[in-house]
Amino acid sequence: MKIFLIGYMGSGKSSAGARIARKLGFDFIDLDEAFEQRFRRSVADHIVEAGEDDFRLKEEELLEQLSSLKKDLVISTGGGTPCFSDNIDLINRCGISVYLEMHPKSLAMRLENVKAERPLLRTLPGESLIEKVERHLDQRRVFYEKALITVKGENLDITALVEKIREMT
Ligand code: S3P
Repeated sequence: MKIFLIGYMGSGKSSAGARIARKLGFDFIDLDEAFEQRFRRSVADHIVEAGEDDFRLKEEELLEQLSSLKKDLVISTGGGTPCFSDNIDLINRCGISVYLEMHPKSLAMRLENVKAERPLLRTLPGESLIEKVERHLDQRRVFYEKALITVKGENLDITALVEKIREMT
């Protein structure tokens, strides 16, 4: 069984994923961390130096490899993972997807201090971070909303979420 956490940057996928894994007794993998271990370079540096297209190809390959492992896993994905290629369909074929939905205001607040490490959060001239997040989310929502389970990321109740996941397995 595999559980995939999806959602925008800053929605808390990694910390929720680790907590869910602990409760279920599954191993936990953070896709960005797995990428950084495999390619020995931070995701941000890779995007800046090799380009986003190359990052997406490698990200997809890594997702496919991890999804085919014969073990129980909770995988937290990158914010863009389900929005490229057929990744959301792959995710839904291989396990249970959980969308951590969060209001753009909450996301912008959380991202304010870490935006330097997210090359894709560059704003247009005159655009605020919240406007950027709203615009980006409008493009991505259609993919996130294909998740089997959607929960609000603010005040996330992990126990209730794990219960919901158990009901589906
Ligand atoms: C990205 C999100 C990042 C990382 C990369 C691209 C995105 O992951 O994969 O910078 O396109 O939203 P987090 O969601 O963990 O920040």
